[in-house]
Amino acid sequence: LSNGSVMSRAILVTGGAGYVGSHTVAALLERDNEQDLEIVVVDNLINAHKENGQKKPEAIKIIEEMTNQTIQFYDVDIRDADALSKIFETHSIDCVIHFAALKAVGESVQKPLEYYQANIAGTCTLFEVMRKYSVYKLVYSSSCTVYGEPERLPINETHPTGRGLTSPYGKSKYFCEEIMKDLCTSDSKWMVISLRYFNPVGAHISGRIGEDPAGIPNNLMPYISQVAVGRLKELLVFGNDYPTVDGTGVRDYIHVSDLADGHVKAVKLFSQIGFSGFHAVNLGTGAGYSVLQMVSAFEAASGCKIPYRIVGRRAGDIAANYADVSLSHKLLGWRATRTLHDMCNDTWRWQRNNPNGFKKS
Ligand code: NAD
Ligand code: WQD
Repeated sequence: LSNGSVMSRAILVTGGAGYVGSHTVAALLERDNEQDLEIVVVDNLINAHKENGQKKPEAIKIIEEMTNQTIQFYDVDIRDADALSKIFETHSIDCVIHFAALKAVGESVQKPLEYYQANIAGTCTLFEVMRKYSVYKLVYSSSCTVYGEPERLPINETHPTGRGLTSPYGKSKYFCEEIMKDLCTSDSKWMVISLRYFNPVGAHISGRIGEDPAGIPNNLMPYISQVAVGRLKELLVFGNDYPTVDGTGVRDYIHVSDLADGHVKAVKLFSQIGFSGFHAVNLGTGAGYSVLQMVSAFEAASGCKIPYRIVGRRAGDIAANYADVSLSHKLLGWRATRTLHDMCNDTWRWQRNNPNGFKKS
């Protein structure tokens, strides 16, 4: 790919200032040996923090400092075709990693139009601009949520998708996968890797970037870590009457830096001769842990007691979910390497060093 000129391979990362996106940008720059990789981030900052008067979001500034490299940043909405087109004209984009989306499951039930607008219309606009500039390589952020209620565990990629989905968020991920399949059928130039994440947790080992949810966290790990740091009083455990090891929900938690490495491997697949079409791949560890096992692991890593109270089940939750990870190994040559202890330890380092997330005050 490299023709010897500086900055010949640009990767466009939509939503690159967010949680998974920022860790992937860090991993791409940390793993790049050729030094000619250009990273172009597009993010409308709806769920990322930028200090007043600064040009770039905090996460991007910190990654620039850590890697000693420059990241191109555009405060642009993926629904803005003209602004996207200018970016494709300015940079020679080789492939796109598409993270940008709204992701709060509960909120999506209240605001379906906002979710379909951002996640589906925005994604279609991005694909139109990609096609206009003949960019056909795409890594997409999908989710285990597309499987709905598991018919079998562990879940492999042949498990049916789209059945019984309860939230507009989940449906938007499923619809986008269907759109990408149709694109691949329409034109064999498309190369699409749809990565179905299980439950991303953890933070960069530096403790300088991590998950920074706005308001009260919806997800388990950020909730636990905010209890540990004293921002929240106690964890509410949603149900202890599931058919699981201790009655609480079981999930496949995966370290965000392992997830990021999975994206680096996916991008490498594009240069494999003969690679084309739509490929859905699970990214998980293959192991499931219960809510109470997560609480214990976090207590062990942080030395903090996590007070909790059992309450009723949360609407739409499933009992247990974990991935069959054989395809990720076969296709991407990737496996998660970080342990549950690493996930808790790294979350705690980030939370302890940044009790208020990226906000300076
Ligand atoms: P995030 O909210 O931290 O990151 C998404 C980023 O996209 C944010 O920085 C936000 O500002 C930006 N964005 C949103 N709408 C945009 C728009 N219209 N134009 C431009 N930028 C926009 O979320 P995340 O956890 O990093 O998730 C990244 C992707 O992974 C999402 O597509 C999400 O659906 C998917 N995913 C996340 C999880 C998870 O639990 N974190 C699990 C499975 C899949
Ligand atoms: C994990 C477990 C809860 C919070 C969600 C999305 C999914 C995907 C990942 C994007 C469950 C329990 C949680 C709390 C609790 N995202 N819990 N108290 O629900 O598996 O998946 O994020 O694609 O689509 O639905 O993750 O972290 O919310 O919950 O007891 O305060 O923790 O009931 O068993 P979930 P989660």
